[in-house]
Amino acid sequence: MVSEARNELFVRIGPGTPMGELLRRYWHPVAAASEFDGEQRVRSVRLLGEDLVMFKDFSGHYGLVERRCAHRGADLSYGIVEDHGLRCQYHGWHYDRDGRCLAQPYEDTVDPQNAARRTVRLTHYRAEEKAGLVWAYMGPEPAPLVPAWEPFTWEHGFRQIVFADVPCNWFQCQENSVDPVHFEWMHENWTMRLKGDRGAYTAPHIRLKFEEFEYGLIYKRLREGASEDNPLWTVGRVALWPNAFFLGSHFEWRVPVDDENTLSIVWCFDRVPREREPYLQRRIPHWYAPIKDEATGRWITSHVINQDIVAWVGQGTIADRTRETPGRSDEGVMLMRKRLLRDLKAVERGQDPSALVRDAADGPIALPCANREWQIRGRSLEQMLTDKLTRARLADFPFLAGQPREVRSEFEQAMGLAEISDRFTAKGAAGLVEGGPAMGQ
Ligand code: FES
Ligand SMILES: [Fe+2]
Repeated sequence: MVSEARNELFVRIGPGTPMGELLRRYWHPVAAASEFDGEQRVRSVRLLGEDLVMFKDFSGHYGLVERRCAHRGADLSYGIVEDHGLRCQYHGWHYDRDGRCLAQPYEDTVDPQNAARRTVRLTHYRAEEKAGLVWAYMGPEPAPLVPAWEPFTWEHGFRQIVFADVPCNWFQCQENSVDPVHFEWMHENWTMRLKGDRGAYTAPHIRLKFEEFEYGLIYKRLREGASEDNPLWTVGRVALWPNAFFLGSHFEWRVPVDDENTLSIVWCFDRVPREREPYLQRRIPHWYAPIKDEATGRWITSHVINQDIVAWVGQGTIADRTRETPGRSDEGVMLMRKRLLRDLKAVERGQDPSALVRDAADGPIALPCANREWQIRGRSLEQMLTDKLTRARLADFPFLAGQPREVRSEFEQAMGLAEISDRFTAKGAAGLVEGGPAMGQ
């Protein structure tokens, strides 16, 4: 159980709060690069309790500045993107990426000296692209690097980015990244029952292990009937610091929008069959996943992360940890809270918190990954089809409902599925993800 004061410490992330200050020490993905490659090159972003706009100017640089124009507060998410910087659509004030005011058309005309213009400065932050995502950094200088996770360098893969707006606090979402037992219940047993299957429950967890490493926590699980050389016991899964989850072929970030909202971002990698290589994906598509069923007003429960979202929002807009009853399976959650408290103390002392990446010379950072071999070397189509989980993943996007038809068809083309449509079966994906190395959490 957690005191009210400590719960507040974990959940309040606005400017000036201890957790807000800690989370500002890290880069956060907030958008997809493919959102900015058309005519629409500017949009609002809400991050860590601040309203901002992100844009990509016509010289190809990203900017991230406060949302309200310094003049009379117009909404810059409707601004005019220039070769360099962004112009307010109301009276034409023009800002560069560092928030400096480059021009005030009428004021500059009537007063060519216009010294006042130089005193105008918008709040501005860093923005950078990596792995098809646009990342934001709102902390002090010197900024760390956007982490170069090794999976971002994997080749011959179809990647996609999926967003979902989740109306609850970031921390209850992230606690789920170190919670192996929910997999057995939420993603397996509950899925069976949702489908009307009254059969026996799945193999229970019999042992759990939680370990710390430089970039987060690792959980390992042993299920009844599994052997100790199962990769989920020898390698495990990674709760990536401070607000992400890495499962071998996809990342999930729980990006703190404000105290009551979280942006879920999924970055997925599917290696194409060896026969389809070389495969070069020119543009990583992105899409927004609905989380509510319009017809019933209830949360969507058919896909893996939709199910997780049911758990997160079900805990309340902000989970009240003063009323919880932790059990033995929550050891990882306790470890996560402890490490966050350590990091909060480090920041208070003026030190770096854990897991910052500052040295580019280190190169891509490999993460514990049960199926790394597949991702690096690839597999033939035959090998892929003999693996039940891969087959399920080919049949349907398993993580979130609502994948647009055009993304599905790009995926099918990349994988060559039109030619083999009779070789896999499209069953509901969630029912097939059984803790194997491909998708199991
Ligand atoms: S409000 Fe932006 S230029 Fe006037
Ligand atoms: Fe889950």
